[in-house]
Amino acid sequence: MKPKVYVTRRIAPEALNMISEAAEMKLWTGELTIPPEMLLEQVKDIDGLLCLLNEKVDATIMEAAPRLKVISNCAVGYDNIDIAEATRRGIPVGNTPGVLSETTADFAFSLLLTAAKRVVEADKYTRSGLWQVPWEPMLLLGQDIHHSTLGIVGLGRIGAEVARRAKGFQMHVLYNDTLRRKDAEDELGVEYVSTLSELLSRSDFVSLHMPLNEDTKGLIGAAEFAVMKPTAILVNTSRGQVVDQRALYKALKSGQIAYAAIDVCEVEPIPMDDSLLTLDNIIITPHMASASTATRTKMAMMAAANLVVGVRGEKLPNCVNPEVYDRR
Ligand code: DGY
Repeated sequence: MKPKVYVTRRIAPEALNMISEAAEMKLWTGELTIPPEMLLEQVKDIDGLLCLLNEKVDATIMEAAPRLKVISNCAVGYDNIDIAEATRRGIPVGNTPGVLSETTADFAFSLLLTAAKRVVEADKYTRSGLWQVPWEPMLLLGQDIHHSTLGIVGLGRIGAEVARRAKGFQMHVLYNDTLRRKDAEDELGVEYVSTLSELLSRSDFVSLHMPLNEDTKGLIGAAEFAVMKPTAILVNTSRGQVVDQRALYKALKSGQIAYAAIDVCEVEPIPMDDSLLTLDNIIITPHMASASTATRTKMAMMAAANLVVGVRGEKLPNCVNPEVYDRR
């Protein structure tokens, strides 16, 4: 008998084919995300779960799924899953590192460029018929990227790729991380700064690339905005909750910083009455930094591989809690 798996959203067809060849697959096809109470119902007799960031996979879900042998998250981040609880229960959790680093860095850099050059405002200006003078010397003046300073918070795989792109624009790159990475300093020509505050105060652009955890939640708040340059541009493609969104609103509204370009929000989708949506000096995109056909297919294939291997009781190719295997 084939193992039973549940997949919480349609992913690349190649990946769904791989899963359905190996397992009896049920797939959520609703327009919106699966309601938590329905997920609770669906996991009762499954051996494997393939989920997205949208689903909170906590002790309640795991308790309701006594046969669960693997949780495969179709994402590199896994803050939606209670990893400690999964580990306690001996359930390996899979993720999709590596394949999305360059695509995500491309997007972070696009946000940086778009904000600095005020591209979104310029497009709105043209469409609304405001372009009257053929060449207006003082119109929509933006900021230079070349020879400016970029501060990267979190020099992991994605942060390093952002640094690589910045070097092509002759930017000076600073980074701050919990661990100093001398190898990356040599390879990428980046400068380590030992405090977040120094990084923030020296940077023209700040790009966030840290995972969401207890240490990074709300890391960028009022005190951090206070030390940033009034011309600074904040880019966030990591997780919304690393930024205190009310403090961000105040910083943008008061001119404490110049601009923000964010792909992630504290609550997703951002509620339409969120005060950030009233500002002109922010670009907000719908958590799409890894969205290219090639990358999303690779992510789906990796997640499918983790799932089908996991339901067979074998070691996941990409496991975030490999300590579960030590106990076997
Ligand atoms: C992830 O993988 O963690 C992203 O946020 C979605 O690509």
